[in-house]
Amino acid sequence: RTIRLKDYKKPDYTIKKTDLTIQIFENYTQVESTLHMHKNPEVVGFPVLQLNGIDQQIQQIQLDELVLTESDYQYEDELLTVQPGKDEFVFKSITHIKPNENTSLEGLYQSGTMICSQCEAEGFRKITFYLDRPDVMSVFTTRIEADAKQYPILLSNGNPVEQGELAGGRHFATWHDPFPKPSYLFAAVAGDLVRHDDVFVTQSGREVSLRIFAEAHNAHKTDFALDSLKRSMAWDEKRYGREYDLDIFMIVASDFFNMGAMENKGLNIFNSAAVLASPETSSDDRFDRIEAIVAHEYFHNWSGNRVTCRDWFQLTLKEGLTVYRDSQFTADTHNATVKRISDVDMLKAAQFSEDAGPNAHPIQPQEYVEINNFYTATVYEKGAEVIGMIHTILGEALFRQGTDLYFETFDGQAATTDDFIGCMEKVSGHDFTQFKRWYVQAGTPNVAVEESFDANAGQYKLTFTQSCRPTPNQPEKRPFVIPVKMALLSEQGKELPISCDGDFNSDTSVLLLKEATTVVTFSGLNAKPVASLFRDFSAPVTVDMALSDQDQMTLATKDSNAFNRTNALQSVFVEVIRKLNADIDSAIPESVDELIKATLGDGSLVDAVKAQMITLPSFAVLRTMFSPINAQALAFAREKLKRHIAVTFAEQWQQLANSLASAQPYEFNAAEAGRRALHGTAISYWVSSGQVEAINFAEALYRAAENQSDRLNGLQAVLSSDDQERSEKLLTHYYRQWKDDTQMVETWLALNAGQKSFDVAQANALMAHEAFDLTNPNKVRSVLGAFASNFEAFHAGEVGNYQFIAEQIVKLDQVNPQVAARFTKVLESWRVFTEDRGVPMKQALEMIVSTDGLSPDVSELAMNALK
Ligand code: ARG
Ligand code: ZN
Repeated sequence: RTIRLKDYKKPDYTIKKTDLTIQIFENYTQVESTLHMHKNPEVVGFPVLQLNGIDQQIQQIQLDELVLTESDYQYEDELLTVQPGKDEFVFKSITHIKPNENTSLEGLYQSGTMICSQCEAEGFRKITFYLDRPDVMSVFTTRIEADAKQYPILLSNGNPVEQGELAGGRHFATWHDPFPKPSYLFAAVAGDLVRHDDVFVTQSGREVSLRIFAEAHNAHKTDFALDSLKRSMAWDEKRYGREYDLDIFMIVASDFFNMGAMENKGLNIFNSAAVLASPETSSDDRFDRIEAIVAHEYFHNWSGNRVTCRDWFQLTLKEGLTVYRDSQFTADTHNATVKRISDVDMLKAAQFSEDAGPNAHPIQPQEYVEINNFYTATVYEKGAEVIGMIHTILGEALFRQGTDLYFETFDGQAATTDDFIGCMEKVSGHDFTQFKRWYVQAGTPNVAVEESFDANAGQYKLTFTQSCRPTPNQPEKRPFVIPVKMALLSEQGKELPISCDGDFNSDTSVLLLKEATTVVTFSGLNAKPVASLFRDFSAPVTVDMALSDQDQMTLATKDSNAFNRTNALQSVFVEVIRKLNADIDSAIPESVDELIKATLGDGSLVDAVKAQMITLPSFAVLRTMFSPINAQALAFAREKLKRHIAVTFAEQWQQLANSLASAQPYEFNAAEAGRRALHGTAISYWVSSGQVEAINFAEALYRAAENQSDRLNGLQAVLSSDDQERSEKLLTHYYRQWKDDTQMVETWLALNAGQKSFDVAQANALMAHEAFDLTNPNKVRSVLGAFASNFEAFHAGEVGNYQFIAEQIVKLDQVNPQVAARFTKVLESWRVFTEDRGVPMKQALEMIVSTDGLSPDVSELAMNALK
C-alpha cells in the first residue's frame, strides 16, 4: 500500500482530550483509553470513524454510554471502524497488549528490566486505538499502574499530578501534559530506575527540574548528558530565543532502542549508547555524539513539538531544521571548522550514496510504503543542508527573523515545509519558489566549473554548468538554486576584492546560480586568481573543476577557509587513489609528501583540523566517487597510499606519538579532543609504517590508558596491524576487563567486526558469543553494522559475505523489521560494483525478496533495489 502526499486530506474527526490508564501486569498490559472526539466542522454528514490499532486484544469498545457489541464495530487490516453518527462524542476502548513479546521495539515494549515506549512514527497504534497521525493533536492525561516493587518509577509526558498506593502491592502515577500533541510524541516508562536531578533556570526565571533515569548498571554515566542538556537549554534561548515550557524535563536511558533517541514531550527516551558517558568508557567521538543528540532531542521541543508536522511527508520540516540547529550548537560549543568537515564527510558517505542508489528520494518524499524507511540521511542530513542554504542566502539576521516568525505563527500547530519557507519569504522578500525544488527533486547535483582569464582586460570568467542525474521516477531535473560561497585568492592565498556581473552578495560572499549554465565575469584583476568555491560546503553538490597543480597546491596549503583547504587536500588524495586504483604501480606524486609536510608544520592549524586534513578519505566517502567500484583494487590503492605516507614520515609519526601523549586527567573539550585525535592519527600511521616500536607503543598506550580515547587510539592501531596474535590477545583482555559494562561490550563487538580479516566464520562465532543478542539493536549494529561498513573485509573479502548478510536480514526481519530494513542498504548499490561483487550482491537481494512473509520495511527497500 503506497501513501502519497498528493492524497493528503484533513482528518474527519479530531481528539481534543485523551485520557489513558495503562495497567501493567505480569504477562500483559491493559490500556483503557477515553477519547473526547469532535467531528471536523468542514465535513458534511457522518463519516465512519476509523481508528488505527495493531495487535489489540479488544476487551470493550464504547461510544458515549453505549457498550458496543461485536456486530457494532469492525476490526481488520489494523483499522477499527465504528459509526458514531454525532458531532461530539466519547470513544472508549479497553484492550490488552503484550509488551514483553514486542521485539519490534515500537509501541510499548520491555527493555531490560523496564517497560518503555517508542511511538514515532506510527507506534502509538500498537498501544491503543487512535487517530495515529500527526495532525491530530490532543491534551493527554496518563495514569500508569504497576507493581510497586518491580516498577517503582512510573513516567509519562508533562507534569506529575498524582501518585499513590493501590491494593496488592501496586501503585499508580498520573501525568498531565497541557500542550496538545500528536500521538507520536506520547511516552510511558515503568521501571526500577536510578534518578539523577538537576535544575535549570530559564531566561525568564522559571525553575525547571531536570531528571535523568537509568537502570542501576548504567546509572553512573549520566553527568555529561545532564551538563549537555543545561548547555543546550541556554543555547536555544540565546541563539533562537526559545525557552523551555514545562516544569520538568526528563530523559530515560534504554538499552533496547531502534535509533538514537526520541523527543517525546517532556520525556525524551534515549538509546543508552546515545546518552551514557564516562571518560573510562566513552571516547571523544562518543562524547561529541552524545552532546549532539541530547541537544537535538531538546531542540525538538520547539522544532518538532511546539510546531509539529502535518503529515509524514513533512518529516524534514522538523528533522532537517533540528539537525541544522544541533550542528550549529556543536559548532558554537567547540570548533566550527572541525564540525563542518565531519558533517560533510558524513553527508558524502551516507547521503550521496543514497542519492545515487535505487532508493533515492527527495528530502520531501512524494510517496512511501513504510514511513520508517524514510528516517534517512537524505531527510535528516541533506534536509539540514537545505536549511543551511537558506541561512547562507539570507544571512544570520533575516534567518533568525524567519525562524522567530515561524515559531510564533505555527506554535501549537501541525505545519508544512511550505509554511516554513513562507516565513523566510515574508521576512526577507526573497522569492524561494525555484529554491523549493530542493524539497522535491532527488539526486546530488553536479556543478562543472570552467575558468578563463583575459590578461589584457583583467577579466576572469567562470562558467558554471549544473546537472543532476536521473533518479527513480525522476528522469528529468530542473535547475536548482545553488549558493556558491566564494572568494578569489591571490597566488599567496590572499583574498581579493570581488567585482562581478553575477548575482553576487558582497555581504555574504555568496554567488547564486539559478540556470543550467551561469557565466560570471570578474573584473579588475591583474593576474589569474585562484577560485575558492563552495566555501564551507555552501551547497550539497559535487564539483568538477580541472585545476592546475599549482592552484590545487595554493588551495590545499593557503586557502583561508579551512574547510576548503581540507577539501583541496583531500582531493589530492582522491586523485592519487584514483590512479593507484587504475594501476597499483603508478607513481605517488611528490605533491603528497609536500602537502603532508606543509600541514604537519603549519602552526596556524589546530590539532583536530590537522588530523582531519591528513587522514585519508574513508572507504565510505571514496566509494561514492568510483564507478564501477573494484573493491579489491580500491582497498589496495588506499592501503598503498597510506603505507607510503606512513613510511615517508615514520620519524614524524613517532615524534608526534610521543609528544602528544598526556598523563593529565581526561577532559572533554575541543583542544584536548583535538590533541587526542591527532595523537591517534599519528599512531595509526606510525604502526602502518611497520616499525615494531610503533606497535609496542600502541599496545603500551592501550594497557596504560585511563580513558577510552587513549585506549582506542592504542587498540585500534594494533588491530589495524598485521599482528593477528597481538590483536587477539588485546581483544580478549578488553572483554575480560569490561564484560559487565554494556557500552564497552557493544564497542568490543564492533572492534571485532571492524578487523580487516573479519569474515563469516568469525561473524557466526561472534553472534554465538554470550555478549550477543539478536533482539538488541545495538548489538546487532555492533556486529552486522560494523562488518558491513568494514569495506576491506566485507566488500574486498569473500563474496559469500553478501549471502550471509541476506540471511541475517531475513532472520532479523522476524524479530525487528525496522532494524532489519537498515541492512538492505548494504546491498542496494550492487549496480556500482564490478560484476564479481555486483552479481552476488544482486543474488543476495533476490534471495531476500523471494522470502515469504517479509515486512513492508524490508520488502520496500529490497524490491526497489532490484527494479
Ligand atoms: N525523531 C527522532 C529523532 O530524530 C527519531 C525517530 C526515528 N523514528 C523511526 N521510526 N526511525 O531524534
Ligand atoms: Zn530528530
